[in-house]
Amino acid sequence: MKNSDKTVILLNGVKMPILGFGTWKIEDEKEAFNSVKEAIETGYTHIDTASFYKNEESVGSGIKEGLKSKGLKREDIFVTTKVWNTEQGYENTLEAFERSLKKLDTGYVDLYLIHWPVTKAYENEWRTKIKETWKAMEKLHKEGKIKAIGVSNFLVHHLEELLSDCEVKPMVDQIEFHPGHNQKETVEFCRKHNIAVEAWSPLGRGVVLDNEFLAEIAAKYNKTVAQICLRWIVQQGIAALPKSTKKERIQSNFHIFDFELSEEDMKKITNMKPTGYSGSDPNLGRY
Ligand code: A2P
Repeated sequence: MKNSDKTVILLNGVKMPILGFGTWKIEDEKEAFNSVKEAIETGYTHIDTASFYKNEESVGSGIKEGLKSKGLKREDIFVTTKVWNTEQGYENTLEAFERSLKKLDTGYVDLYLIHWPVTKAYENEWRTKIKETWKAMEKLHKEGKIKAIGVSNFLVHHLEELLSDCEVKPMVDQIEFHPGHNQKETVEFCRKHNIAVEAWSPLGRGVVLDNEFLAEIAAKYNKTVAQICLRWIVQQGIAALPKSTKKERIQSNFHIFDFELSEEDMKKITNMKPTGYSGSDPNLGRY
């Protein structure tokens, strides 16, 4: 089975490849273009960006070139982008989406997410704000411009608020998730509501890669620590979005479907000491 066949099926039947390529912090245009092209040539069929990453244009060109060099079509790739905090609100979101789509130039977007639940400008009114934003996303979804809609960094109370007043349920929640930070409560809530979970910073921004305990497990399976982290994530049915600008890492991060972690090792990793948390608290408003 090819890696690209490993998918998570979203609430509305859309298939989302379980291993994606993250592009946060790849701001340099050439680097963004090259990394995305390289990722697609390696076999990744899921690319994640956001208007906040300021790379949608280069990511879009990288996608085009990657598809061309692999002889693939637009439908063969799953593209995610996100509405930024300062773009929230009904009209703002409609406009932000058009800006993102124009930059990406992908014709449509597979998945559009609300990037953070609480924004600086509307810290006390986040409940109303996310619902206004969501209405715009529902409209774009109905029009077929977006195949699936979801959220990012939503904790249980944020999800409950949105679920209490929406027409289309969120299909995805993209959260910080890696060994040492497994957000049990949010993941359990998502499972209960059939919301697919995606892991951002699946390697803990590189911080967990020096962990001795993970290094021991990696040696046992003859794999890298990064591969162990990613395997631990996808083996739970959670999508992983590793980012790298280095060809060898882009490639090795892709090879995680030729081994399986034992149940015991899965548990050990799940129960390891908290480590690598970025400190980004979704309850705090940010720009
Ligand atoms: P680089 O772009 O230089 O490869 P995360 O996806 O958790 O945010 O982690 C991304 C960080 O981890 C980046 O700094 C990236 O750096 C690094 N990284 C990605 N893949 C690997 C790997 N296989 N081995 C070591 N570092 C990696």
